[in-house]
Amino acid sequence: MADKSFEVRPLATALGAEVFGLDLAVPLSETDFGRLRAAFVEHNVLAIRDQDIPPENYLAFVRRFGQIEDYPFAASVAGVPELTEILKLPGDVKGFGSGWHMDMSYRVRPPMTTILHAQEVPPVGGDTCFTSLRYAWLTLSARMRGLLDGLVAVHESWPPEPVRFSGMTITNLDKPREVARHPLVGVHPEAGEPFLFVSPYYAREIEGMSPEESLALLEFLNRHATRDELTCRVRWAPGTIVLWDNRWTLHQALDDDFGAILHGGGYRRRMHRAVIRDPRSH
Ligand code: SIN
Repeated sequence: MADKSFEVRPLATALGAEVFGLDLAVPLSETDFGRLRAAFVEHNVLAIRDQDIPPENYLAFVRRFGQIEDYPFAASVAGVPELTEILKLPGDVKGFGSGWHMDMSYRVRPPMTTILHAQEVPPVGGDTCFTSLRYAWLTLSARMRGLLDGLVAVHESWPPEPVRFSGMTITNLDKPREVARHPLVGVHPEAGEPFLFVSPYYAREIEGMSPEESLALLEFLNRHATRDELTCRVRWAPGTIVLWDNRWTLHQALDDDFGAILHGGGYRRRMHRAVIRDPRSH
């Protein structure tokens, strides 16, 4: 494939871009991969369009970003243990991945990147939204930044509730919870720049504060981090691959299936997910 063969179009000012013109059925040249990585560093979320490729090609692409991390709570794609199958059936009101969160922030080294490959998408709805924790930090007042300096949040693994995801096999529910302590002022491991290290679903308390103080501060920070102007929204199409920097962003799959909410029958949505390990966790 010739170099400079694809186009990158930003989705929003804070983060996110779409990529057109790539064909991941064939390995990317070093130059194109370097350009793609540069676009990823700049935009933090990339939606690569039109990748009607089998799992082998998808995995080959994923592996260029690093080693694949295990995910304890959901079964893999049949015959492909590296990929988790994320499935919403028409009767499910909530999708797996709904509500703002950082993937697996309950690990001492949360995964570096998450990558989804759309297998089945609704004609409309089921979008994924992202927010920039880097801009969340930059838009706090200097006084608030000073207050957060030195504070540590405790993140704990809360397994998904199986009853909500009728099409998925949820596993390891009796596994002891994983717990990690992270400073509220994170430093991006590669960029060396600060970010607001919150993860609404998993970070439930701040060390040394009363439960009420902890809750009030986390609620404020979570609201701040998910302000509209810090976000972008990806509309899925069959074959879209989306990758995001899991340390610099939060994400949520929207629960907007009103067919399921009102009549018990809405859309199907199916993704293949791979999670890339932080190399420092080896
Ligand atoms: C996830 O949270 O990893 C999945 C998000 C999605 O399905 O859009």
